Amino acid sequence: MQILIIGGFGYIGSQLLESIAAHEKYRNCNIVVVDNWSYGRGMAPLQALFESRLPHFHSYCLDFSEPGDATFRDLVKSSDFIINVASLTQVPSTNLHEKYIIDGVRVLTELLTAENAGKLRKVIDISSTSIYGPVRTRMPDVTPPYSEQVYPDPAVALHNYAASKLVAEKIWQSDRCQGLPFTVFRLSTVFGYAVGMRYNQFINQFLVDAAAGRRTILPGSPDNIRPFVHIRDTADLMLHLLEQAPQTNGEILNIGAARLNPRLGDLFERLSALLSNEFGLKPDYAFAADLGQPTLEESYQVDFSKFEKLVSFPLRHDFESGARELLTRVLGRA
Ligand SMILES: NC(=O)c1ccc[n+]([C@@H]2O[C@H](COP(=O)([O-])OP(=O)(O)OC[C@H]3O[C@@H](n4cnc5c(N)ncnc54)[C@H](O)[C@@H]3O)[C@@H](O)[C@H]2O)c1
Repeated sequence: MQILIIGGFGYIGSQLLESIAAHEKYRNCNIVVVDNWSYGRGMAPLQALFESRLPHFHSYCLDFSEPGDATFRDLVKSSDFIINVASLTQVPSTNLHEKYIIDGVRVLTELLTAENAGKLRKVIDISSTSIYGPVRTRMPDVTPPYSEQVYPDPAVALHNYAASKLVAEKIWQSDRCQGLPFTVFRLSTVFGYAVGMRYNQFINQFLVDAAAGRRTILPGSPDNIRPFVHIRDTADLMLHLLEQAPQTNGEILNIGAARLNPRLGDLFERLSALLSNEFGLKPDYAFAADLGQPTLEESYQVDFSKFEKLVSFPLRHDFESGARELLTRVLGRA
């Protein structure tokens, strides 16, 4: 059995590798990472770590959005399972989103639907709940919570990252991909500790800044509503779906939970109380809108009922447990 993880040296990819390493059932499995090493120096330690932890681990430094790469073609053909977690998430606005997200999915789906396609059993691709960004202002007839049926025009997306995710979703839903065992996650913003952690987003940034005594300027305003999901739940859910949820084939799913979709002002008050009570920290933070700074007001309450109905998988982690673990790691406490 072979699992191919595209973008496997990123935040979610590193947790996927950890979760795989923690399961005896993957011991004899070929685990293959394709990553173009976009983030440079973080990649080599991850490569060395997973070479030591996984008995059948291979990694290839290549850009999967380049058509005609023979190595990538062969890897796609020989893989039973493919998870695409490649993006440039740490670079907010770049034309490379179009290349890495849209061209990447185009190349991947062309290989998967070629006449001599391989032995694929499941492919998971990751979109984002940030595609709902313009709904509140540009689609006034749509009332929250937003279900998967809501598809904003990519032309009104709040950034080219979200626009590219919307276009990629349409590729998966095209006639060509009908019959492919794909599931696309509209994934909430991920938080929590992972070995290849991202710091530059909401909760992780807030916690790391607080631990370091730095001020955090949070995007948007306290009244914005945003969905989140813990990194380990995200990785474990992906692995769960590989073999155990054929009913999700051909589906786009909002991934998250109503209890993890709070008003930001309330969330950061809760986290501040935890930091103060349990770690003796006094976080210094403000919302960009309150400071009069230019900011995107992304706010969306998301409907997770399709995910809950189709997939029997509890999201175990909450904000408090995730924050406690991350801070304990960052502060070097046992
Ligand atoms: N982290 C989140 O909060 C979040 C939320 C919603 C959706 N997503 C999506 O989930 C996926 C993973 O997110 P992440 O936080 O792990 O991102 P990340 O930026 O930490 O990791 C992405 C990885 O992809 C690699 N990569 C980028 N372009 C590539 C290419 N063309 N070929 C090969 N490798 C390439 C990078 O080098 C990096 O290692 C992305 O598609 C992202 O858009 C993430």
